[in-house]
Amino acid sequence: MPTTCTTERPAQSFAAGAQVPAELFDGLGARQATISPKFLYDALGSKLFEAICELPEYYPTRTEAGIFARHGREIAHACGSGATLIDLGAGNCAKAASLFPLLRPTQYIAVDISTEFVSESLARLRLRFPYIDMQALGLDFSSGLELPDSVRTQGRLFFYPGSSLGNFTPPEARAFLTRLRKSCGDDGALLIGIDLAKDKATLDAAYDDALGVTAAFNLNVLRHVNRLLGSDFDVRQWRHVGFYNEAAGRVEMHLEAASAQRVRWPGGGRDFAAGERIHTENSYKYRQADAIGLLEQSGFEATRVWTDAGCPFAVIHAQAIA
Ligand code: AVI
Repeated sequence: MPTTCTTERPAQSFAAGAQVPAELFDGLGARQATISPKFLYDALGSKLFEAICELPEYYPTRTEAGIFARHGREIAHACGSGATLIDLGAGNCAKAASLFPLLRPTQYIAVDISTEFVSESLARLRLRFPYIDMQALGLDFSSGLELPDSVRTQGRLFFYPGSSLGNFTPPEARAFLTRLRKSCGDDGALLIGIDLAKDKATLDAAYDDALGVTAAFNLNVLRHVNRLLGSDFDVRQWRHVGFYNEAAGRVEMHLEAASAQRVRWPGGGRDFAAGERIHTENSYKYRQADAIGLLEQSGFEATRVWTDAGCPFAVIHAQAIA
């Protein structure tokens, strides 16, 4: 429990002219302190996430890649060619790029909150695929999906791999998918990867790996917050906690205070007791039927589902319903 908490919002902005995100103050000031998972992805955080995807414990990336490799032709058939491929949370664009030869998009829109990272990736990709019209779009698509006029409205195929949907709560996921459906137009579709529920040992290891890469990824959010907020979080005074909460059907990541401490920021601050946690991420693990139900409630029809029998994970093609 915090003993003191002051969360006045300073009038001025702190980070290179950018306005301090209000939700950071709200989250840090809440009784159960939270930091939204989107703040995990500054430039270093994006690189650490790339490293996580290489870990033996982190199965989602290779499991999903295996499904794409085994069923690529069927997936391409379901999606059709010549689409405007809109990659949500594109990162290094590697997943979408590996599908270019199969999906043959005519336009590729790489959407990510960290534009710096995406722009570097696109510069390399343009050399390999000069015939695809590519655009990078810096957008926090978790709160809105306003696409510029340069994005074609016909034949939109949203690509949302990696089970990022799991980082929303189920009601948030439904709201997000409903916005996506609206942006699909008459003939749009969605190709999505969703991690499915599995044994606790596998999930615990995937989110608390032996090398401590996930720990670094989680702790790095404090440095990012320090830059955005002007706060003085001491990363060495926090430790990573990641585990599967079976009752809630989700993996949780937290940062736990190693000692009692006061964290300050311009205009306020907060005391943290030893052992107090900041909740930084949820990663929901769905049952297949529930994932399909969520899509249907959001205006999509799941036309094809490809799974991995050994490590439950689903890739779903879902058509927007008129
Ligand atoms: C991006 N997202 C789907 C990852 C996940 O598995 O929830 C983020 C992550 N957090 C810890 N490891 C990976």
